Amino acid sequence: MKTILVMALIAAAGAWWLFAMPDVGAPDGSGHRVPETPEAIERGAYLVAAGGCISCHSGVEDPGSLSGGLPLESDFGTFYAPNITPDPATGIGGWTAGDFLLALKHGRTPGGSFYFPAFPYPSYAGMTDEDALYMAAYLLAQPPVVSETPDHELPGWLGRWTIAGWNLLARLLNPELPVETDPVVARGAYLARHLGHCGECHTPRNGLGIPDLSREFGGGRIADGKVEAIDADALNNWSQDAFALFLTLGLKPDGEFVGGKMEPVIEHNTSRLTEDDRKAMVAFFLRGQD
Ligand code: HEC
Ligand code: HEC
Repeated sequence: MKTILVMALIAAAGAWWLFAMPDVGAPDGSGHRVPETPEAIERGAYLVAAGGCISCHSGVEDPGSLSGGLPLESDFGTFYAPNITPDPATGIGGWTAGDFLLALKHGRTPGGSFYFPAFPYPSYAGMTDEDALYMAAYLLAQPPVVSETPDHELPGWLGRWTIAGWNLLARLLNPELPVETDPVVARGAYLARHLGHCGECHTPRNGLGIPDLSREFGGGRIADGKVEAIDADALNNWSQDAFALFLTLGLKPDGEFVGGKMEPVIEHNTSRLTEDDRKAMVAFFLRGQD
């Protein structure tokens, strides 16, 4: 069924622009460059934490590094997170500013092919170019680790080119979300929707795995099972303090610690946010409350 849908979509679309490269400046990164100052690298370290990159890219052989190899189960098969240390042969050594912008914000490989959305680029797409390049600064400043990661285990029909159709459909099905006007809430929205990619697990998806943003945070499903809703209704009984405590320690209002795939989100991401950023995230999720 999924196969037929994807094939039909591709056949119907069939226009060159489906495969055209997004314009992020010249491919050598001119117009953009990866900053190299210690401040930029430090800012990048913070953003990489806020982006939860380590949850997926943590090295199997070298766990402190981002050298990859973890299996990521999905309905479509098993993906292996690649090595994103700057090793030129097995990692991302030599990547330009343009390569980073294409990958993180458009899901495109340096060669023009498509990444699978198991890499949450649909969420990271809302990042500013500046933040993406700070992340690049941090990644390129890390020690290179030589580590070949396994090939994804996917059904034959799931070629990278099918993702051209997926990206288009995802755009068509999901109109732009309303912009938050309060600056603190807007900062929280940026952290939750884009860097923290909370919706990748907490927003429901259709049969093709496309998130339904009209039910943003309405409860999702991952390979481990169902994931709770964290929309306004679901968080109705959470106070600001309780939510901030949860994001710091993973402790829920009922006195239980959260588990499963949420544990690394707390450990590597939300607990490392600055006080102000954590408050902003709380303000965003609880924006409906008085
Ligand atoms: C939910 C898991 C997940 C998270 C979180 C994640 N990634 Fe990835 N990433 C992947 C997967 C899977 C791929 C490979 C996709 C493919 O092969 O199509 C990937 C690919 C990449 C690539 C391309 C590597 C290459 O060799 O082509 C880069 C760069 C990257 N990720 C950077 C990041 C950064 C930076 C973050 C944090 C802001 C991040 N990723 C967060 C799963 C993840
Ligand atoms: C990789 C998937 C994943 C991501 C990303 C993720 N979560 Fe979760 N979240 C889960 C899972 C799974 C649970 C349930 C864990 C359990 O069984 O204890 C959960 C539980 C929660 C709960 C508790 C809900 C309840 O009623 O008990 C909250 C609140 C929450 N997440 C908020 C967030 C926020 C905020 C973000 C973004 C910063 C986020 N999550 C990102 C998977 C995820």
